[in-house]
Amino acid sequence: MDYNRIFTQAIDRLHGEGRYRVFIDILRNKGMFPNARCFAGHNGPKPITVWCSNDYLSMGQHPKVIAAMEEALHDVGAGAGGTRNIGGNTHYHVDLEAELADLHGKEAALLFTSGYVSNEATLSTLAKILPGCVIFSDELNHASMIAGIRNSGCEKRVFRHNDLAHLEELLAAEAPDTPKLIAFESVYSMDADISPIAAICDLADKYGALTYLDEVHAVGMYGPRGGGISEREGVAHRLTVIEGTLGKAFGVMGGYIAADQVIVDVIRSYAPGFIFTTSLSPVLVAGVLASVRHLKESSEEREGQQAAATMLKAMFAGAGLPVMNSTTHIVPLMVGDPVEAKRISDILLAEYGVYVQPINYPTVPRGTERLRFTPGPTHTPEMMRELTDALVEIWGRLELRLAA
Ligand SMILES: Cc1ncc(COP(=O)(O)O)c(C=O)c1O
Repeated sequence: MDYNRIFTQAIDRLHGEGRYRVFIDILRNKGMFPNARCFAGHNGPKPITVWCSNDYLSMGQHPKVIAAMEEALHDVGAGAGGTRNIGGNTHYHVDLEAELADLHGKEAALLFTSGYVSNEATLSTLAKILPGCVIFSDELNHASMIAGIRNSGCEKRVFRHNDLAHLEELLAAEAPDTPKLIAFESVYSMDADISPIAAICDLADKYGALTYLDEVHAVGMYGPRGGGISEREGVAHRLTVIEGTLGKAFGVMGGYIAADQVIVDVIRSYAPGFIFTTSLSPVLVAGVLASVRHLKESSEEREGQQAAATMLKAMFAGAGLPVMNSTTHIVPLMVGDPVEAKRISDILLAEYGVYVQPINYPTVPRGTERLRFTPGPTHTPEMMRELTDALVEIWGRLELRLAA
């Protein structure tokens, strides 16, 4: 068997479809985000502006976060040294779980090494424990939720994106005593829209279903204390499980769930993805603690981000660029072709020092390839003007259509 040929053909298929992924080699300049250095090419690092980071509020650069991490490193050393059960349960972990439970008004929280792991571990375990459970999953749910649902081995019903009538039709088709779980997100980060959380909770009440909400693209950024869209809309108490990441708006790394004590205890006790892995470094956890505590008190970063997103959307629309309808902080530009999206991204980086990654299948459906901009509180109006002018020039050069 020519294994090598099979692997090479798999990679060639990606090249053929124009969706072979190239990772851009960068270093951020501490305290100066979105300024960074790029190591592409041979002429030493080149200054760039980052437009696609999920460190949405620049908390990864915040002096309080950095100081907390430095202090923890000097106090307790680098790693956790074990799983939570065997030596790796530090006081930082315990404190952060209490802080996150409080953030969402839940009895308890549980940390994981990433948001991906928290979704996979929780969904697969929860549904496995409920005999005969059926999971109702939004068609645009993230790959980590899909992995968890698949690994649960349960029956699954996929409802059309944010389509309450379709969800209800599927719920109503199941026997009343079948255990049910509705899994969905608050902010869908590729389409930049928000789910009808309260209405989904109404359906869950009507049909006796549990709810699982991924708030990965909302925690830290929405709600008066950064508790996400569910906090902003006053519905956190109606959700069975709220899941979030510590690697995006909180600027560090890790994931978590917040729920009733008994649910957290079940996941803690049964989920392989939680049990059999070294716990997060206490240095990371100390940084997240500082970040969560800061964002509970300070809305300055959230307001700065919303203002930047509003401004960038208006500039793109004013210039006739195909900005997608967004009710969130995310600003996607539709391109509709993977090769074109990559070309635009390459020109932006090489000629304008602008870093924005093209988003291709399978992250988004084929034919809807796009550029996804994430302006934050430290992107200035000047940077936005330069970006808009660059895009208009490239759109013209590639003979792409601008709105009149
Ligand atoms: C909706 C959603 N859920 C979960 C994750 C995974 O979170 P993490 O990056 O912390 O693994 C992501 C993305 O990265 C995501 O977009």
